[in-house]
Amino acid sequence: MTVLSRSLDDLAAAAAAMLAELARISDASDNLTRLYLSPAHRRAADLVRGWMEQAGARASIDAAGNVVGRFGPERAPTLYCGSHIDTVVDAGRYDGTLGVVAALLAAEEIMRSGADLPFAIEVLAFGDEENVRFPTSLSSTHAIAGGYDPAWLTRRDADGTSLAEALRAFGGDPDAIVGLARDPAGATGYLEIHIEQGPVLERSGLPLGVVTAINAAWRADCVVRGEAGHAGTVPMFLRRDALAGAAEMVCAIERLGAGIADGVATVGRISAMPGAVNVVPGEVRFSIDARTPSDAALAGLVAEIDATCAAIASRRGLDFACTPFMQAPATAMDDGLQQALADAAQRVGIAAPRIPSGAGHDAVAMARLCPVGMLFVRCAGGISHNPAESVADPDLGIAVVVMIEAIRAVAETRGR
Ligand code: GLV
Ligand code: MN
Ligand code: MN
Repeated sequence: MTVLSRSLDDLAAAAAAMLAELARISDASDNLTRLYLSPAHRRAADLVRGWMEQAGARASIDAAGNVVGRFGPERAPTLYCGSHIDTVVDAGRYDGTLGVVAALLAAEEIMRSGADLPFAIEVLAFGDEENVRFPTSLSSTHAIAGGYDPAWLTRRDADGTSLAEALRAFGGDPDAIVGLARDPAGATGYLEIHIEQGPVLERSGLPLGVVTAINAAWRADCVVRGEAGHAGTVPMFLRRDALAGAAEMVCAIERLGAGIADGVATVGRISAMPGAVNVVPGEVRFSIDARTPSDAALAGLVAEIDATCAAIASRRGLDFACTPFMQAPATAMDDGLQQALADAAQRVGIAAPRIPSGAGHDAVAMARLCPVGMLFVRCAGGISHNPAESVADPDLGIAVVVMIEAIRAVAETRGR
C-alpha cells in the first residue's frame, strides 16, 4: 500500500469538508441547484480551481467551463480522473462532486508520496453532466473527449439564452472549444468515482463496486397540441384536451419502460398551457428519458413509445411531435481498468462486486477518448437526485484511498 501523508480518517474529514463547502454554492436560496454556466457554477469552479492550485496542480477553467488541474509534466501521457460539479434541481451534495473531490485528494496524496508515475494526472471537474439547463449531451465532457457537436452552441435554455451566450457570460469561449479536445494517443485512461445512486451496494453491505457498463440512454422533448376552450361550456365529447391525452401517454411510457428487462422510462418534466383552472388545456410539453442495458433494446423501446403516443394522439384528435435531443450508447468499462479498480479495492481489504450503472456519467463521453473505468460508492437508501443523498464519512476516506491505489495499479499495468 502507498504510504500516505494523511490517515484514512483525515482524508474522509477533508473530503466531507470540501463536499460541504461545495454544497453551500447554489443558485437557489433554499436548496442545492447548480446548473451548467450559472453564477453558482462559476463560483464552484473558482473554488475547485483554488483547491487544485493549493494541492500543487497547474489549474485553469477551460473554454467550455471545465476545471482542469494538471499534476505532472505538460507533455506526457495523461491519466484523467474526475467527475462533474453541475447538479440537478434540488440536488444532493455527492452526485459528481464526490468524484472530483476524491480524484483531487488522491492526486495530491500520490504526488506527495513522491510516486514515480509514467503519466501526468489531470483532475477534471466537468460542467455539463446533468444536461438540465440545455438540451445537450455531456457537452463540456465531449469538448475534452473530442466529440463536441457545434450545433449544441445554438441550443437554448428555458429563458431563451443560447449555450454560446451562456458560455460567454460565464467567461468561456465558444470559438475555443474545438481546441480543447485531447489527443487519444496520449490518453492513458479515465477513472471516475461516483455515488452508486442505487441500493445494491448498501444491500450487500459493501462500500464499493466496480462498474461494468453504463446503460444506453435517450431523451426527447414532446409536444401535444389540442384545442384550448372554456372548461364550463365545451362538452366532454367535443374536447381535444392536450393534458388528458398527455396523461395517457405518460402512463403508456411508464408501462413500456417497465416491459423491457432492466429498462426504465420517465416523464420528469411536464407543463400545460395556458395553465388556468377554467381552461381546457390546449398544449402540453413533456420530456422523456429512457434507458436500457443495450442499444438494440433502447431502439425498440423508443420505437414503441413513439408509435404508442402517436396512436393515443390520433384517437383523441391531437397532434403529437417528439424531438430527440440526446442519445448515448451503452458504454462498456475497460476490462483492464475494471481489474485495476478491483485490485485497488482488494489492497485496501475490500471485495468490490461488479455492477452495471443505470445512471449516465461523464465516462460515457470520455470513452470516446480512452479506456474508462468507474468505481461506485454506496449511498444511504440508494437515494440520489434528492437532497437526502448521503454517503457515510468513512466511505469517503475509503474511496480516496482506493483511488490512490487504482492510480498506482494503472501505473503498474498500463503506463510503462
Ligand atoms: C445523470 O445523473 C443521469 O441522469 O443519469
Ligand atoms: Mn452524476
Ligand atoms: Mn446526476
